[in-house]
Amino acid sequence: MVAEGKCLARHDNMVIFVGGVAPGDVVDLRVTRKKKSFMEAVPVAFREYSELRVEPFCEHFGVCGGCKWQHISYDTQLHYKQKQVKDNLERIGKVALPEFDPILGSEKTRYYRNKLEYTFSNTSWLTNEQIQSGQEFDRDALGFHIPGRFDKILDIKHCYLQPDPSNAIRLEVRKYAKEHDLPFFDIVKQEGYMRNLIIRTANTGELMVIVQVYEDRPEEMAALMEHLATTFPEITSLQYVVNSKGNETYHDLEVVCYKGLPYIHEEMEGIKFRVGPKSFYQTNADQAYELYRLTRDLAALTGNELVYDLYTGAGTIANFVAKQAREVIGIEYVPSAIEDAKINSQINNITNTTFYAGDMKDILSDELIERHGRPDVVITDPPRAGMHQDVVEKLLQVHPNRIVYVSCNPATQARDLELLSEKYDVSRVQPVDMFPQTHHVENIVLLTAK
Ligand SMILES: C[S@@+](CC[C@H](N)C(=O)[O-])C[C@H]1O[C@@H](n2cnc3c(N)ncnc32)[C@H](O)[C@@H]1O
Repeated sequence: MVAEGKCLARHDNMVIFVGGVAPGDVVDLRVTRKKKSFMEAVPVAFREYSELRVEPFCEHFGVCGGCKWQHISYDTQLHYKQKQVKDNLERIGKVALPEFDPILGSEKTRYYRNKLEYTFSNTSWLTNEQIQSGQEFDRDALGFHIPGRFDKILDIKHCYLQPDPSNAIRLEVRKYAKEHDLPFFDIVKQEGYMRNLIIRTANTGELMVIVQVYEDRPEEMAALMEHLATTFPEITSLQYVVNSKGNETYHDLEVVCYKGLPYIHEEMEGIKFRVGPKSFYQTNADQAYELYRLTRDLAALTGNELVYDLYTGAGTIANFVAKQAREVIGIEYVPSAIEDAKINSQINNITNTTFYAGDMKDILSDELIERHGRPDVVITDPPRAGMHQDVVEKLLQVHPNRIVYVSCNPATQARDLELLSEKYDVSRVQPVDMFPQTHHVENIVLLTAK
């Protein structure tokens, strides 16, 4: 098992990357891409099945891009996630490493997400079996994109990612749209009405539903909203967006709150986080709590520290650690996330946080450090690309005592660790699984000044 959840095979000294198989399978392959040093292939016939295999539990497995590791047991998934972190840190990082802590698995391996986004389409994806059956199928779909196909949507019957009433709401919206002749969107022709459905569940029991449509039809929208409000009285935030753009993103559009409040809350240790229709919040909330708890433990805060939380998003880590720190500075690119971060401090009476919006390499400046002081601890949680080299250099210059580096991409984390090794030792490595049934892995590294 190697990067991106693919398996590696060898044939005549050629390396072949294969998706949709398990380590130990014996398969016939069809090569789909040929390069000088490697090939990519797909399985066409299985001669022997690996002992690591388990029966996938979802009827959409193999077609849907969502949970590609259902065919191997959760223990095996954790084993390969731990290995992925180890391989990256050893091969790319080339730094002295301590013994790794065992990966922290997710208690929930199904129904662990708090947000799903479904797309409507009038050209549903048909499986090979459906095509071969010669039957006619309903081409309207409400579900997920087929990997690599912007125009094809898999109609989802049941999804194991989000708890109830997520499936019930999706099926009801689908049924209502069909019964009331509300056309499913045609992405190629850019016509139709029903575009997208977002469901957000929260650990407080609050529930947000956002329906996105292509054009303004006030009467039809009001009828749909009323139907949802009466069928699912547990919805606490019912909203819609009219989006006539070429794509589904709505960060620049008005979201109309039809009923309830325009936000929901997640909660951790009594701290409430307000989540609006455009806010980011970690999608596996239970495991996010574990991730933040471990991060705070590794930061070893005593109440006297000045902490910088880099790439703070909606200030979740910053607010979570604020009680155990003297002062926390949070920095993030997206201005609306910084607005959320400030609100999250306010609603929790947290007064020792300051947030800045802007590009990290510009905001983390000498002037900022002069204004707030040299941090004792830096927590950094960059996007998949890792930290910009200027940011790494600034950290080397500022030289906090401890850096807690949270990463969703061990390859870029390893690259950054090598740069930081000039002045830092890696003291702890703690992988965490946020996304069961996928190859994704999160990793926390504690760096201590030499
Ligand atoms: C992995 S998320 C961290 C989220 C946050 N720590 C949390 O747990 O909710 C990375 C964040 O970095 C932000 N980001 C990406 N590039 C950035 C940049 N150049 N400068 C500042 N922030 C950036 C993204 O907007 C995103 O919110």
